[in-house]
Amino acid sequence: MSWIREGELSLLERLTANILKAGPMPKHVAFIMDGNRRFARKKHVERQEGHTQGFDKLAETLRWCLNLGIHEVTVYAFSIENFKRSKEEVDGLMELAEEKFARLLSEHENLEKHGVCIRVLGDLTLLPEDLQRQIAKAVVATRVHNKCFLNVCFAYTSRYEIANAVKEMAWGTEQGLIKSSDVSEALLSQCLYTSSSPDPDLLIRTSGEVRLSDFLLWQTSHSCIVFQSVLWPEYTFWNLCEAVLQYQLNYRAIQKARELHMDAEAVQQLEADRACVEQLQQGGNGKLMDARSRQAALLNYTSQREERVNRFLSALQHKRDSYFHRLCSPTAVA
Ligand code: IPE
Ligand code: IPE
Ligand code: MG
Repeated sequence: MSWIREGELSLLERLTANILKAGPMPKHVAFIMDGNRRFARKKHVERQEGHTQGFDKLAETLRWCLNLGIHEVTVYAFSIENFKRSKEEVDGLMELAEEKFARLLSEHENLEKHGVCIRVLGDLTLLPEDLQRQIAKAVVATRVHNKCFLNVCFAYTSRYEIANAVKEMAWGTEQGLIKSSDVSEALLSQCLYTSSSPDPDLLIRTSGEVRLSDFLLWQTSHSCIVFQSVLWPEYTFWNLCEAVLQYQLNYRAIQKARELHMDAEAVQQLEADRACVEQLQQGGNGKLMDARSRQAALLNYTSQREERVNRFLSALQHKRDSYFHRLCSPTAVA
């Protein structure tokens, strides 16, 4: 089973899609794909078969998303907590992932045709070396595609991601790239594994569990969250439509909450910059400035801060890119 399942929607599905598309559509949808083992038990098949069918469902769901005009999808495929499962199950999941990433490389033309960019988010160094290499090749091979984006969270938890972002900022400060006063909500967001994506508009969890299990905690503070009882391998086009409808019914409230947050963030940054300028002035000649000079000093400070932050973010990107390129080199040792 390939990553994007080819095929068209049925007439009834197309009709429903068109009706939904007349309303506001989520641009980015995240899924906690849960319930594979319960599905396997229900169908009296091996647990690994449940996970395989879970992957097949992802391919099908991606096609539905594309048909609905949803161009970014983020999925929770394997959490850091999942390493605590039995060795047999973890090994089975790693083998499945390796097989699917190898398959992805062999289907490069198809992904190019659809313009699919695959990102894998998490601490990949926790994974077996062969899998790290397969993932790196898949990420590098599809990174220039820009029509749709699939973010696979693998060896991921949100708290780990946030702690890692804090460590990156501490590193930037130690290296003299940024000042501690440059640390802000916006900068932390840019240090997360998800920095290249907008926040999800809609987060869906299947299997009836009503918790986030440490998934995208930072990024979903203003997203519509929908819990559905269906087990992931049994997910249908109609389940997806129902979740989109929930998003549409809550659209206004979500937009309002987002706008308020964006305004508050901008005010926070302005106040932080003002405080820094004042401090600098007190440390300088201490002479009081008129309003115009204060404004000029503030503009000057803001542009210097932005320059520092950009330099730091480029260094961070370079660090991440070299990890992938090292793994892709023919003599790669992870
Ligand atoms: C989700 O399904 C897939 C992974 C966590 C890898 P589960 O394996 O958690 O299946 P349930 O929730 O126990 O049924
Ligand atoms: C969350 O599901 C992780 C994935 C879907 C990959 P879990 O089944 O691992 O979560 P908990 O343990 O029920 O919270
Ligand atoms: Mg589960």
